[in-house]
Amino acid sequence: MAKITYIQPDGSARTCVNFEGMTLMHLAVGNLVDGIDALCGGMMQCGTCHCYIDDAWTERVGPPSDDEAAMLEALADSVDVRPTSRLSCQIQLGEELDGLVVHIPSDQPGV
Ligand code: FES
Repeated sequence: MAKITYIQPDGSARTCVNFEGMTLMHLAVGNLVDGIDALCGGMMQCGTCHCYIDDAWTERVGPPSDDEAAMLEALADSVDVRPTSRLSCQIQLGEELDGLVVHIPSDQPGV
């Protein structure tokens, strides 16, 4: 079990409990967290699951894969992509991420 906190652009926070095998995106969608639309269902084709990993957690979460990095680069034309940007559908949650904090962008691509 891991508790994950999603922080909205207005500063409001929501903590959700992860069950084994979920991604950061699935946890958000399953708990109706605003701002994670995940329109492609985790196929890494929409970018609407974009989020920012809190600075304190970037090292533990790790870098994006080459494919994810390419998708993030493509998104930079339409949304604010930062060094801490990740696609939440590509982050598998486990005990090691208990306490993870992520920030929801103010805009998602095409939404
Ligand atoms: Fe579409 Fe992550 S859900 S890219």
